[in-house]
Amino acid sequence: MKIVRTAASAARLLRGGGGEPGRPLILVPTMGALHAGHLSLLRRARRLAGPEGRVVASIFVNPAQFGPGEDFSRYPRPFAADRRVCEQAGVDILFHPTPEEMYPVGFSTYVNEEQVSLGLCGGSRPGHFRGVCTVVLKLFHILAPDAAIFGEKDYQQVAVIRRMARDLNVPVRIITAPTVRAGDGLALSSRNAYLSPAERAQAPVLRRALLMARDATVKRPAELARLVRREIATAPLAKIDYVDVLDAETLQPPGRATRELVIACAVFFGKTRLIDNVRRKW
Ligand code: PAJ
Repeated sequence: MKIVRTAASAARLLRGGGGEPGRPLILVPTMGALHAGHLSLLRRARRLAGPEGRVVASIFVNPAQFGPGEDFSRYPRPFAADRRVCEQAGVDILFHPTPEEMYPVGFSTYVNEEQVSLGLCGGSRPGHFRGVCTVVLKLFHILAPDAAIFGEKDYQQVAVIRRMARDLNVPVRIITAPTVRAGDGLALSSRNAYLSPAERAQAPVLRRALLMARDATVKRPAELARLVRREIATAPLAKIDYVDVLDAETLQPPGRATRELVIACAVFFGKTRLIDNVRRKW
């Protein structure tokens, strides 16, 4: 596995690489602190790339997607362990730039998606998806993958990136992978490490609440949201940021064209913010 720290060395290494038929280049973008969820994406990439293709993973804690007062500086950065995970998953190239490499002095161009990114996490984290879009588009340009894999755990993130790729004619196929969970249903997340034992014990309430709504006989979005809120409220340490029921494709309020719903929530345990989602028929 080659470790690459600059866009220039990535360009040198990849020249004539990606884009060849039968020899695809598959990208898995991450912020590191890799867990079994990330690993499932890396394995998926390895399978898709095949023996001839190449897998690129990126590890970059992207300052542009963190708001003031968020966890940018304390976000875990266990690079030695992450590197071993990548190696064992069959990653060929690990792109691990510095913040100065990605945002040099005088950096002033950002990518703004202005519809899908407005509600849900975009509503409670202003500027977050501007940071995500900017860094992901930069990664697409630097590494020029044929496809990139994203987790459904970050449902809105995938929708925003798909829209950006479509709107800006980015020739990268966006592939999604299912959410990997702990035995008690909690979606794996690098941020789970922040939870106290008491918070960790209550955190599976997100999954429980969403499954109740998925399987409920009531159908109206407002009723489904109420069910989720009521269940989450049974966990004394949980503070709801949002619960929303939207069209799974457009992330707009469901309407006549809706085929599937996404029920999504964000919940604080102390300072730690967890998200999860589930889909159900409309
Ligand atoms: P990060 O939170 O490190 O996640 C990297 C990728 O792993 C994302 O596509 C995310 O959806 C996926 N992932 C996280 N937890 C998962 C789980 N439990 N099961 C399956 N997949 C999971 O998302 C980001 O980083 C950043 O916003 C990034 C896209 C890298 C841009 O900076």
